[in-house]
Amino acid sequence: MLTKLARELMTREREKVADFDHGRLAEILDLYVGTGIQVHSPGYMGRQFSGVFPLAGVVDFVSSVVNQPSSFYEAGQLPNVAERIMAEELNRYLGWDPDRATMITTSGGSLANLTALLAARNEAFPEIWARGDPGGGGLPAIGVSEEAHYSVVRAAGVLGIGESQVIRLPVNRRGQLRPDRAAAVLAAAERRNLRVFCLVASAGTTSMGAFDPLDELADLAARRGMWLHVDGAHGASLVVSDRHRAKLRGIEKADSLTWDAHKMLFVPAPCTLLFYRRGETAAGAFRQRASYVFDDEPDIYSSFDSGDKNFECTKRPMIMPLWTLWSVYGRALFAEKIDYLCALTGEAHRILQAEPDFAVLHEPEANILCFRYQPREIGADLLHRLQLDIRDQLRGDGRFFISKVDVHGVAALRLVLMNHRIHAGHLTMLVAEIRKIGARLLLAA
Ligand SMILES: Cc1ncc(COP(=O)(O)O)c(C=O)c1O
Repeated sequence: MLTKLARELMTREREKVADFDHGRLAEILDLYVGTGIQVHSPGYMGRQFSGVFPLAGVVDFVSSVVNQPSSFYEAGQLPNVAERIMAEELNRYLGWDPDRATMITTSGGSLANLTALLAARNEAFPEIWARGDPGGGGLPAIGVSEEAHYSVVRAAGVLGIGESQVIRLPVNRRGQLRPDRAAAVLAAAERRNLRVFCLVASAGTTSMGAFDPLDELADLAARRGMWLHVDGAHGASLVVSDRHRAKLRGIEKADSLTWDAHKMLFVPAPCTLLFYRRGETAAGAFRQRASYVFDDEPDIYSSFDSGDKNFECTKRPMIMPLWTLWSVYGRALFAEKIDYLCALTGEAHRILQAEPDFAVLHEPEANILCFRYQPREIGADLLHRLQLDIRDQLRGDGRFFISKVDVHGVAALRLVLMNHRIHAGHLTMLVAEIRKIGARLLLAA
C-alpha cells in the first residue's frame, strides 16, 4: 500500500529534468511525516530513539546542506573541534584522565561495539591484524552478559569470534550480570583453550534497562587481564545527571564505553560516542596506511583527524546537534529531561503495580519498564501470545506505540519513555487501552 502510494508520487518524466511540482513535494513530505513511528507524540512509548530537541533538527539540516564529513579535519573543521570539546565535557563525568582519554563518533552503537572489540582484540593479540592468526595461548573469546545487545555477538562474528567463543555470563532476575558467578564461567572457558580478552558489561540493557555492577566487573576484568568494554548505548547518558550518576559507579575503571547520544541525549540518529580510557588503544583498532587520506607528517589538520580510529571514511558530522545544544543550553537541559523520564517510569511502575490485572516484572532503573497484562493464571503459551497480540493491536490502532520483549522466556510489554510530553494521565489511558484490548482477546481465545 505504502509502496503503491510512494510510486504514484514519482514523476514519469525520464528524458529531461522534471518541472518542479510543489504539490508533489508536499505530498511526499506529508507521507514521510505521517507514516512510521511518531516520536513526538505522547503515545510513543516503545523504542529507544527519541523525539529530538527542535534546535538539534535545525543544526542537522545545516549539516546536510554544508555537507562536511567529519572523519577528517580538512573537510569538517568545526565538527572535529566540537568532538574534542564534547569529549572533554563528557569525560568529566566519566572521571578518566583527560590527557589520556579519547573519544570518536561512530554511526551507531553497534558500530561502536564492533570498533571497541576490535581495539581490545588487537591489544590482546598484537599479531592478529597483520597475520590473521592469534598465535599461541588460546583462541580469542569474549565474556558477555546473557542480556547483552545482539550487536555485541554480531560484532564478535564479524571479528571471526565464533558463537562457541562467546561466553554467556549469568544475570539475576533484574537482568544484571552477576560477578560472583561470572568468574567460574570464565575459568571454565579458559580450560577449553579460550582466551577471554574482553568482558562486555551493560549500562542500561535493552530489555529492562538494567545496569551491571561495573565496579565489581572492573575488578574482575583487572584480575583476569581482560579489557572491560561497557555498552552504555542506552544508559551512559545517566552520568550527566547528579541523581542517576551512581548507577555507573566503576565506569572510571572501564577501558571503553559505547554511548548513544541519539538515545538519552535526544539528538538525531545516529550520533554515537565511543570513549577510550587510554587514548592510544583507539589507534590500535585499525592499523593501516592510505596515502590519499592519512598524512605521515603530522600537522594541525592530521592532529584533529579521527579517520584512523573509526571505521567510516565519509562520516556524518553527527556531533554538531549535540555540541550546539550543549553550548546553547548546557548540561542541565539533558539532566532535567533524563531525571523527568526516569521519575515518570517510576510513576508507571506504581500505576501498574496498583492494577490487579497487570504483572510488573522489575523495578525500573532508568526509563524502561517491562510488564504483562495478566488478569488471571494463564498458561505460558497463551500468556506469551496475549502480549504479542496486545502489542500488535495497539500498534495498529495508532494511538499508542509500545514494544515487546521476552522476559524469562515469555513475551512482555515494554515501555521506553523518551518523551517529556508524556505525563501520568497518558499512562493511565494506556492501562485502560491495554485492558480493553486484552480482555477482548482473552474472551475470543
Ligand atoms: C544496549 C544497546 N547496545 C547497542 C545498541 C545498538 O545501538 P544502535 O542502534 O545505535 O546501533 C542498542 C540499541 O538499542 C542498545 O540498546
